Amino acid sequence: MTQSYEARPARELAGGFAVPGDKSISHRALMLSGIAEGRSEVTGFLPSEDCLASMRAMQALGVAIERPAATRVIVEGAGMRGLRRAAGPLDMGNAGTAMRLFTGLLSAQDFDSVLVGDSSLMRRPMERVAKPLREMGADVRTAAGGTPPVDVRGGRPLRGIEYAMPVASAQVKSAIMLAGLYADGPTTVLSPAVSRDHSERMLQSFGVRVDVQDLSVRVHPPKRLAARDVQVPGDFSSAAFFIVAGLLAAGDGGLLIENVGLNPSRTGLLEILRLMGAEIEVVAPRQSGAEPVADLRVRRSALQGIEVPKSLVPLAIDEFPVLFVAAACARGETLITGAEELRVKESDRIAAMSAGFEALGVAHEVLADGMRIGGGEDNPFDGGTVDSHGDHRIAMAFTVASLRARRPIRILDVANVATSFPGFVALARSVGIDVHES
Ligand code: S3P
Repeated sequence: MTQSYEARPARELAGGFAVPGDKSISHRALMLSGIAEGRSEVTGFLPSEDCLASMRAMQALGVAIERPAATRVIVEGAGMRGLRRAAGPLDMGNAGTAMRLFTGLLSAQDFDSVLVGDSSLMRRPMERVAKPLREMGADVRTAAGGTPPVDVRGGRPLRGIEYAMPVASAQVKSAIMLAGLYADGPTTVLSPAVSRDHSERMLQSFGVRVDVQDLSVRVHPPKRLAARDVQVPGDFSSAAFFIVAGLLAAGDGGLLIENVGLNPSRTGLLEILRLMGAEIEVVAPRQSGAEPVADLRVRRSALQGIEVPKSLVPLAIDEFPVLFVAAACARGETLITGAEELRVKESDRIAAMSAGFEALGVAHEVLADGMRIGGGEDNPFDGGTVDSHGDHRIAMAFTVASLRARRPIRILDVANVATSFPGFVALARSVGIDVHES
């Protein structure tokens, strides 16, 4: 893809704004409301490429969905047994979450399905969901190397299992829970560490019994899911780019980011940045449906390098690209370890950030499971050209880096920003980031 950004150094940001809806919650809202009985209205829906792929997949499976406004979706639930065989392969685009969660849901249906995606998704590991689903009795096949296409054969009765996940993955946990809705008894998933719990919260709100105890969740197969409205909060992972931007360059009034989802299984970045000396105020915390939200006021802060506690890594897993940028702007070294999952995201994020740092002259050392980042200069980034490798979060992270660059940064292959953050450039420009598409 040829689309690129040119980001020029800008030194003072200001504004109050909201970021688009949460991607993880938007996917789940479509799936659960699609198998519920009755009509659900989803507000604050994220109209991004990833979530639209989930929407089209549900429609291809026979669910009636209307979108009267970009962020408002009305789903006529088909019931747990109401999905129908799709006419062709289901295209998940760039969306790993959609592919993994649909694999769980579809393995319990009485028809066959095939799941495909774009060139990045076709390289991502799928055995991590296929394996536990097979233990439940599902027939799930992947290509050589454990990658898509995922071939799901239906009509297999599923049994409830107890599964200890080797990695703390909310996608794997959620895929098993979705299949578990259809099993002959309760299904238990044990995690090695905390991962996002949106599925647990939303299933409970649709009337499913889910017992949560420390690092274990148990889903009890329901007779039915009851339709309910879902309010999707602003995506913390999208807010993350503006949190770091504010820390690096906010003017006197700071930046105010409104209605941000603050689910504690997602906010590791806040804790990490606070350990680095960040001044971020949580304003008016409140509940929005099943999820906690608040406004965030971010002030320009002098950051210190730290050793990032490994326990916070799964709670900040999507925020590392922009955290690497913050670390490059901190005084002293930052050490990130225990983050080997970054290697199997939309790109190998350790390699992609390292290549960008190399191009922009940032001292760093690549580790198998993280990075050691130099830090120490006020404006550590030279100008130059970096490649996002088609990864939305790498593209947005280097846009934020321009705030502490000595010359413009050109960022290649940015079209996939639309997978999670439609309107990113317009919003960034509105607060003072000097970025444009070229
Ligand atoms: C997600 C879980 C995370 C995250 C992804 C969204 C989800 O992946 O990186 O962007 O919605 O469940 P893993 O579960 O593979 O860590």
